[in-house]
Amino acid sequence: MCGIVGYIGKKQAAPIILDGLAKLEYRGYDSAGMAIYDGEKINIKKSVGRLNVLENLTHGGETMPGVLGIGHTRWATHGAPSDENSHPHFNKDETIAVVHNGIIENYLPLKKKMMDKGYEFRSETDTEVLAHLLDYYYKGNPLEAITKVLHRVEGSYALGIMFAEHPDEIFAVRKDSPLIVGQNDDGCFIASDVPAVLKYTRTVTYVENQEIVRLRDDHMHFYTVDEEEIQKTPVTIDWDANAAEKGGYEHFMLKEMYEQPKTVNDTISPRIKENDIVIEELNMSDEDILAVKKIHIVACGSAYHTGVTAKYVIEGLARIPVEVDVASEFRYRNPILEEGALVVVISQSGETADTLAALRESQARGFKVLGIVNVVGSSIAREADNVMYTWAGPEIAVATTKAYSAQLVALYLLAMKFGKVRGKISDAEFKEMLNDLKCLPDQIELLLGNKERIQRFANRYVGAKDVFFIGRGIDYAISMEGSLKLKEISYIHSEAYAAGELKHGTISLIEEGTLVAAVSTQPALFQKTISNMVEVKARGAFVLAVTCEGNKEIEKAADYVIYIPETNPYFANSLAIIPLQLFGYYVAVGKGCDVDKPRNLAKSVTVE
Ligand code: AGP
Repeated sequence: MCGIVGYIGKKQAAPIILDGLAKLEYRGYDSAGMAIYDGEKINIKKSVGRLNVLENLTHGGETMPGVLGIGHTRWATHGAPSDENSHPHFNKDETIAVVHNGIIENYLPLKKKMMDKGYEFRSETDTEVLAHLLDYYYKGNPLEAITKVLHRVEGSYALGIMFAEHPDEIFAVRKDSPLIVGQNDDGCFIASDVPAVLKYTRTVTYVENQEIVRLRDDHMHFYTVDEEEIQKTPVTIDWDANAAEKGGYEHFMLKEMYEQPKTVNDTISPRIKENDIVIEELNMSDEDILAVKKIHIVACGSAYHTGVTAKYVIEGLARIPVEVDVASEFRYRNPILEEGALVVVISQSGETADTLAALRESQARGFKVLGIVNVVGSSIAREADNVMYTWAGPEIAVATTKAYSAQLVALYLLAMKFGKVRGKISDAEFKEMLNDLKCLPDQIELLLGNKERIQRFANRYVGAKDVFFIGRGIDYAISMEGSLKLKEISYIHSEAYAAGELKHGTISLIEEGTLVAAVSTQPALFQKTISNMVEVKARGAFVLAVTCEGNKEIEKAADYVIYIPETNPYFANSLAIIPLQLFGYYVAVGKGCDVDKPRNLAKSVTVE
């Protein structure tokens, strides 16, 4: 996902913009650029490559003097990474510059129209069409030009815009892609996300869809796309500045793994009151809960994996049918949503385009959507009918860990709440489950203490070519996440398989020494999974087992065993995933991979 930073004030803009872009590197990018007004004209420097290329090009911003400017880190969508395709883009006379995060979906017909009017394009990007459209509609009034353009473009955008003829202001515009603005005594800021401005201000305002912000050095004005001025309320960010730094860990990912006990506790505690589960933000009465006939869970990636887990947990505890979809499938398969359906979308960033689209599709059909979201004020959080936040704090590493764990316990709470209201869980069972929930943070802490043992085991597999994760029921969902963690940061091919399905073809891939991680946390399925472990061992596999303390039987079939503490089987994912996160992390570290910013990936996929 691209990163945008803008500044106007008393200080030199370029160093502030470079610093802010550095705080947004986690979003994934392939090029970077800046436009700075030097008192006479707009200077633009941009290049493919990491941010340090731009820093070297501009001597840390020194060669770009000026007190207002916009900057950008680009994650390519239209047009390969290149200097020409980097942002900012500008009009023919270089008197208007624009940076953009999102996709202009109708850029091709617009580009053709502008070329028919004689405009020349330098890049393959969709964004450049904005620069020429602004040029076309600008007659001296920037706001008027901007609103005219916005009425003609379709798609998603967060924009930073500047006009050489108006060197006392910069503009920010938002539709679907995240954008915030902030202010301190030295000036005003635009940013795609909070970490970019935390160093300068904790008071920020979330720009909503179809809003325009005019920023001057000491104040900001907000407008609708119809140029009506509106008032906005800023929020104070209470994140500790270090929360966006590594806090002494080698990688954000390791830091965030070690934050899991806290994020799980922070997500559970506020919702357990006097030995009952209270989820006020659900805004659902007991009658509303009793009226739910089916739950549709929609998400992407790891969030989808928590949804697969939730299917077993909700169906098991509340006896409500649950259907789980990856959002990119849900939005195009014309899903059958019937009266009594509740749609639940899960998203760490709250900006994932497919998940946001699934939310809108459900609402368009008249169904209420519950969002389980981590980023406060994100698009999904604001558009869902109700939001249940996972209080995991900023998650910087591209590979999710603490937000994933927070999503799991949020879903357990939901399942228990629904199960209790619907009379499917006895008071005694409920009380025991609450105790099990409260024990999870300490048990996660205990498993994290195992890291040296896991690291030694992981070091054996830095050269692996194929790794398989197998399990049944919830263990299959755990296997999905274990496999994704390994492949997305170590680039080793891996597959998760329903353990009972392996023999229907894929087992032919098992060779001498192939690592198969067998997840076995469901007592009712212990024997079945042992049989599958024997199957793969007979074909030469090395079997790693992740199972519950006390399941000694498994040692007959496993070559290496990692035990997790006893807990309710429905909560086992929260524990079994810890050694698998550590395994993927240490294999990636052993391979020297860029753990926090894996190749080809972005922290939030805000485009289709
Ligand atoms: C997780 O490790 C991955 N980086 C990715 O699958 C992620 O879970 C997915 O893109 C969904 O993101 P979201 O939770 O922000 O919607």
